Amino acid sequence: MQKTVLVVGASRGLGLGLAKQFSNEGWQVIATIRNPQQSDALKQIPQVRVETLDMTDAQSIEALGKRLAGMRLDVLFVNAGVAGPQNKPATEVNETEVGQLFFTNAVAPLRLAKQLLPMVNAERGAIVFMSSILGSVETGPGMGMSLYGASKAALNHMTRTFVSELGETGLTILSMHPGWVKTDMGGDEAPLDVETSTRGMVGQVTKALGRGGHHYLDYKGDHLPW
Ligand SMILES: NC(=O)c1ccc[n+]([C@@H]2O[C@H](COP(=O)([O-])OP(=O)(O)OC[C@H]3O[C@@H](n4cnc5c(N)ncnc54)[C@H](OP(=O)(O)O)[C@@H]3O)[C@@H](O)[C@H]2O)c1
Repeated sequence: MQKTVLVVGASRGLGLGLAKQFSNEGWQVIATIRNPQQSDALKQIPQVRVETLDMTDAQSIEALGKRLAGMRLDVLFVNAGVAGPQNKPATEVNETEVGQLFFTNAVAPLRLAKQLLPMVNAERGAIVFMSSILGSVETGPGMGMSLYGASKAALNHMTRTFVSELGETGLTILSMHPGWVKTDMGGDEAPLDVETSTRGMVGQVTKALGRGGHHYLDYKGDHLPW
């Protein structure tokens, strides 16, 4: 039977790449964008339904839930994220910048997952949160982008809480590192292209269905230290 994935944050970069890759592999894809004007690239992909969502807006999440009511998702892939104020040390950023970064990267993904949880196949489905190696407390410090890394560490931490509250379930939860990838966020120096990273991630997600538990891994399937 055809599987269905919801990719959150698919206007460009890795989210757009994930929508393409899932579609190439025969999945039905629902892909969200913040700005409806940015749907051209997604509309070129076969089997993609485009929806509008600002992940930081509770009303927007609720409205999406209503529009998708009755659908069953095999995978919810929460990809959306921001880099935050990269050019300033953590001690020089202001409250608004820190608030936006942590709210978008750590709080909003969990709030979205909680809201859409009833739609995800609880026997063999998966929820994937786009984390980063920079969010590893063991290896992230010293790799740069410390505030961003801390926001992804907070995402990992909150994901653990989310998992602990799920109780008995067949769901698999992944905290995923895509590798360092050439996108607006990753920059031109990144060694990986979007296709290599997303092909790897889709493979890992597909393999994880039915496995259960919470795993922190990269696009190649290597497990990362928390
Ligand atoms: N690239 C890398 O090397 C790398 C490495 C590790 C982890 N990551 C993570 O991978 C994910 C995707 O990164 P990327 O490199 O593809 O970044 P990107 O090119 O900057 O794309 C970010 C995506 O997130 C969306 N987004 C941001 N805030 C949103 C919100 N409030 N609601 C809905 N969508 C929102 C953006 O939408 P708009 O177009 O509307 O802004 C865009 O589609 C992020 O979570 C990032 O932290 C990336």
